[in-house]
Amino acid sequence: MNDAKTTALHAAPELLTASRLWPPLMKLLESAFRVHERLHETDPAAFAALAPRIRAIAASGEARVPRELLTRLPALEIISVFGVGYDGIDVAAARERGIPVTHTPDVLTDEVADMAIGLLLAIARRIPQADRYIRAGRWPEGAFALGRKVSGARLGLVGLGRIGRAIAQRAEVFGMSIAYTARTPKPDIDYPFHADVATLAAAVDFLVVITPGGSATHKLIDARVLTALGSDGYLVNVARGSVIDELALVEALQRGTIAGAALDVFEAEPQVPPALFTLDNVVLTPHIGSGTWQTRRAMADLALANLQAHFAGRPLLSPVPEG
Ligand code: NAP
Ligand code: 8YV
Repeated sequence: MNDAKTTALHAAPELLTASRLWPPLMKLLESAFRVHERLHETDPAAFAALAPRIRAIAASGEARVPRELLTRLPALEIISVFGVGYDGIDVAAARERGIPVTHTPDVLTDEVADMAIGLLLAIARRIPQADRYIRAGRWPEGAFALGRKVSGARLGLVGLGRIGRAIAQRAEVFGMSIAYTARTPKPDIDYPFHADVATLAAAVDFLVVITPGGSATHKLIDARVLTALGSDGYLVNVARGSVIDELALVEALQRGTIAGAALDVFEAEPQVPPALFTLDNVVLTPHIGSGTWQTRRAMADLALANLQAHFAGRPLLSPVPEG
């Protein structure tokens, strides 16, 4: 590093990362900030000394930034989330102090919608199971078990925001009929609205969950909803693990109360309920809804741009609505 760069970095704001971040994003952050990687978790004594100087937090969509952490950061000015979901951030506590929170909406919408459709096809047509069948040398034993037709089936969306709408667009191309639930009906949309998620579940073949996490949606998909979805119904979750009652889901899958589930997110990531590993009617992915190089790059650029805008005194590009 040359002298000018070293001097610039010494003057750069101190930034704390609140979770493991994508390495290319770390590089971007390190070019503009003095970055302290999860210091509050890795070295509490060093964190205590540094905390009064921390001016920014960078966090992933899964990160936890509770009030307790904010209280320890008197100089904090901004929290930038690398993700659209920010249910782990205590936005109310940040707002009380006038600390803006930014996130990365829109740039990942197509990616997560693609993933939802991919998971829906994967569980209905049992694509990972079929792959395992061939690898296990079982094809000569006979034909693989038949799947469930997706084209023309009934789709229920739990959440019809940016990503929910993008999933609906894709499902329309498959000739699926679409119904939804959300906090409020959408006047610009003709799909039937169900105020009660169980009523929606009872009316569809595939229930795709794409709401935010947090207390308002905690265990929204419970035993009652799974029973309503029924033994021919499939669940796809690309939202947050907290939205599903995982114990009830495991039981429903074991008993055949529902036909199957495809899950990208889990309540205690990276831990996944081991009972799911033994079930053949599930497809599991490790929170990769936005996980392509192209989309993660766009998210990283936006997360950095928000921080830079703040420190340059420019308007933020994508503050959270409550922020
Ligand atoms: P969004 O535009 O804010 O849409 C959220 C939708 O959820 C809205 O339709 C909203 O209803 C609905 N909703 C909120 N609270 C609800 C409740 N209590 N009951 C029923 N519906 C409720 O957000 P988005 O950009 O589509 O993202 C949605 C979520 O996807 C994120 O918050 C994140 O948790 C998750 N996500 C996951 C991944 C992944 O990798 N798997 C990637 C990105 C995002 P109203 O329209 O009536 O307000
Ligand atoms: C990312 C997400 O996996 O945007 C979100 O809410 O959950 C995902 O896009 C995450 O934020 C990056 O770690």
